[in-house]
Amino acid sequence: MGSLDCCVIGTGYVGLVTGACLADLGHSVVCADRDEAKVAGLATGEVPIYEAGLETVVRRNLEAGRLRFTSDINEAVGESELVFITVDTPSDAEGRADLTNVDEVAREIAAAINGYKVIINKSTVPVGTTKRVQRIIEEAMPEYHEFDVVSNPEFLREGTAVADFKNPSRVVVGSDSQKAIDRMLELYEPMSARVMITDPVSAEMVKYASNAFLATKVSYINAIANLCEVVGADVIEVARGMGHDERIGRQFLMAGPGFGGSCFPKDCRALLHIAREHDYSFDLLEGVLQVNTEQHERMVDKIRRLAGAGDDLAGKVIGLLGLAFKANTDDTRESPAVYVARGLIQDGATVLVFDPEAMERAREELEGASFMADAYDAAQGADVLVLLTEWDEFKWLDYGRVMELMRCPVILDTRNWLDAKALRKLGFTYEGVGR
Ligand code: UDX
Repeated sequence: MGSLDCCVIGTGYVGLVTGACLADLGHSVVCADRDEAKVAGLATGEVPIYEAGLETVVRRNLEAGRLRFTSDINEAVGESELVFITVDTPSDAEGRADLTNVDEVAREIAAAINGYKVIINKSTVPVGTTKRVQRIIEEAMPEYHEFDVVSNPEFLREGTAVADFKNPSRVVVGSDSQKAIDRMLELYEPMSARVMITDPVSAEMVKYASNAFLATKVSYINAIANLCEVVGADVIEVARGMGHDERIGRQFLMAGPGFGGSCFPKDCRALLHIAREHDYSFDLLEGVLQVNTEQHERMVDKIRRLAGAGDDLAGKVIGLLGLAFKANTDDTRESPAVYVARGLIQDGATVLVFDPEAMERAREELEGASFMADAYDAAQGADVLVLLTEWDEFKWLDYGRVMELMRCPVILDTRNWLDAKALRKLGFTYEGVGR
């Protein structure tokens, strides 16, 4: 196996993990980003996101000389045969994936192309983007060079990104060119992963279909949880019973405050938009998003009831444990915790928050909350303490001390994460979700 010359454009989550892990496989990688300050930090091994193991991989490969960072996209493309596009595709007002960044990078690649290139799209992009990138490059290229555009969606999860990249359930490669497919097989050869070759449009669809399906699973179990509450069943037992059926599987059956993050909500909206554009009404997926929004609101309703509040929460103090959209990340994008916090603030509550990693990022989106030094401070004088992100450390708090600090010993555990029995024994009023 030879080492391939790769360049990765965009050093967000996917770009940085892709670049660092490809270098770890032995390839020569240059990561390019327009943000010069970010590049300068990365070049010294400073990783701007909280992601387990990432910094180690970045540093190891920087030292070995297999990984470099630059803000000169032109040069990075010029010296690489494989060019990855890993830029953001945020939702626009209608839920459509905004391709401004992808288009711009395609034009930059066109300007820099100097020989055969495989241009690989890892960003989650609407069906048809492989063709679109191809067209942009063809039109913008100052002189003709052979190139292929490949769809190679990334399925890594935040919090376990490095492990997910290295041990993927599958690698999906969408291309009509055997030459490009051969390069992709060579690229992933050191990983011995299951590589699935398909056409570009199907590859693009796999990504949306997978994320929307997982989101559906979460909304489904949340809807079942809501039903469990009224009929007196325990959703944990129900999910356990369902999960034993291999056709259903155990994963993604954890009821909670709803899904969030940079992918599920955005990708569901984008898929709905794609469906609408083709006159297909995807009611099932509309329902998935609706259940999710209602789930955030249900959490606020539960808090209102547990706080014994009337029309508003004025005078009530609510402590929130967790702001990240899930544990082991500092990411608060579309976090259910942030939605809940905003709802409480709007209702007039005094909201005390703590998260082990996400405070800095939450500060930008959460005006009106008090950011506390630790979980105990967030419980100080609280009428209700609400667990919103399933961080391990929240399991091991001294709940005797928490009880002494609170005004009323009431806990809402929106992740069914804590030991309900032990907390009740201590004298807490404990409520979970779907139990
Ligand atoms: C997801 C996909 O899993 C990944 O394959 C894709 O590449 C990017 O999107 P990520 O957004 O990092 O990854 O988070 P994930 O672990 O999938 O969780 C998404 C949301 O669903 C979180 O808010 C999480 O708390 C919630 N969730 C997940 C549940 O509420 N219950 C579950 O059982 C599982």
